[in-house]
Formats: sequence, structure tokens, C-alpha cells
Amino acid sequence: MNNKIKKILRKKGKSKIVSLTAYSKSVAKLLDKYCDIVLVGDSMANVLYGQENTHQISLQNIIEHSLSVKKGLNKSLLVVDMPKGSYRNKVIAKKNAKLIKKETKCDAVKLENNKDNSKIIKELVTSKIPVMGHIGYTPQFKKKFKVEGKTHKEIKRLLKEALKIESAGAFAIVLECVSENCAKEITKKLSIPTIGIGSSKFCDGQILVTDDMLGLSGFYPKFVKKYVSLNRVIEKAVKKYSSDVKLSKFPKTRNIY
Ligand code: KIV
Repeated sequence: MNNKIKKILRKKGKSKIVSLTAYSKSVAKLLDKYCDIVLVGDSMANVLYGQENTHQISLQNIIEHSLSVKKGLNKSLLVVDMPKGSYRNKVIAKKNAKLIKKETKCDAVKLENNKDNSKIIKELVTSKIPVMGHIGYTPQFKKKFKVEGKTHKEIKRLLKEALKIESAGAFAIVLECVSENCAKEITKKLSIPTIGIGSSKFCDGQILVTDDMLGLSGFYPKFVKKYVSLNRVIEKAVKKYSSDVKLSKFPKTRNIY
């Protein structure tokens, strides 16, 4: 286990873990100073590639964006999402996780849970590939969005899943859109950190899709706090540029050779 992961583990119960997504060097560079974890998420499918779901993102897409992100990071832990289909059994998962790690020099990979992935996680961890788990709403496997962990029965099931992921050797787990009570229970019972998205403050850390919190993606469900409306800032700049070009105000003498 590398020192960056050890540092994340030591934060449990002491200080919150800050995480965001990045798909490029320029954004990663801005996040690095403030984030403990930067995730190259398969959310790039919706955010960058305008796809309806995350199912079509390929291993190659993920690797290329991770190579870019890696160049912008110095201190944050780099976690790379394994795309749908790339971990459908132990053998395939090990081959692909090794490839991701070798090509991108990431610190860990993330796998969404599909009922029970504990054997796959165990295989990767045994092969010295650190793993972050992901339960609750898992877009690679769930057809419709639904908040999970609203009943005692569901909380029990999700806690069981989380404990299995911890026993398999994952160093952290994402809780996506689970109820506050569920997040509280899982965070209390696990010794590894929980990273929440839409899962209340009762998690050891939080993650958001950067383009959502910057107001760029146009996707603003209840759990997203939009910290800035970058789309408006960009539109204003593009409008000014367009007018400058049309009125021959740009380029000026200082912009030419
Ligand atoms: O793909 C992604 O960005 C994610 C986060 C939302 C956790 O999995």
C-alpha cells in the first residue's frame, strides 16, 4: 500500500476526505492542491462525450484521459474507474487493471459493485492493485436512478455489500445516493473510509463530478452544489470574442508578429 493511500486511511474519523473528478491535465492541476483523491470517472461518457449513460466508455478512453490527468497531479491520489465490461470476471479484471496501472501509473482503480464483486476485488488486491469499491446507485448496472438504503432491509443489504468489499481488501468505498441513515450506519461499521456522493455528510469524504459543481455540465440534481456558473462565464467571454472578431477589435497590434 503506497503512502498516499495510508494517508487517506488515517483520515477516517479525523478529517474529511476531499475528492473530485478530472479528465484532463489542466483541470487536474487546479484540483491537486485541494483534493486528497482525483478520480478519472467513467462519468466522462456523459460529461465529455455526450453519451446517455456510462456503458460505452472504453478502456482506451479511460487510459488516455488518465495519462493526461496524471500529468497534472503531484500530491493527490489518482484513482481510475474501470469501465463496464472490463472487470466481468477475475481473469479479465486482473488483465485490465494491470494494464490501467502500468499505462497510467495510477494509485488505484475503482469498481462498481454488481451484487457481489468481492472475489474480483480480492484478486486485484492480491495482485497489488489497490481498489476503491462503489455501492448504492451504480450507473454501470442500474437501469433507473433510485436512492438506495431507505428501508431497514435495504440498509442491511448495503451494509453487507460494504463489509464484503472491505473484507476483500478495498481501501475505500464510494456510497452513491444512499440515504443519510444508510451512510451513517455504513460509515460507523466500516474501518475503511466512505466517500459519499448524494449520500449526506455522514461519510468520511465527499466526491462530486467537477463539471457539475462548476456549472458546466448542465446536470444539477439535488445532491450537486453548483459553486460557480462557469457556463455563463464562458459564454460571456465567447460572446465578447465573437464581437471583437466581427468588429476587427481582435487581434490588436500586441497580438501580432
Ligand atoms: O464516474 C464517476 O465520476 C463516478 C463518481 C460519480 C463517483 O463514479
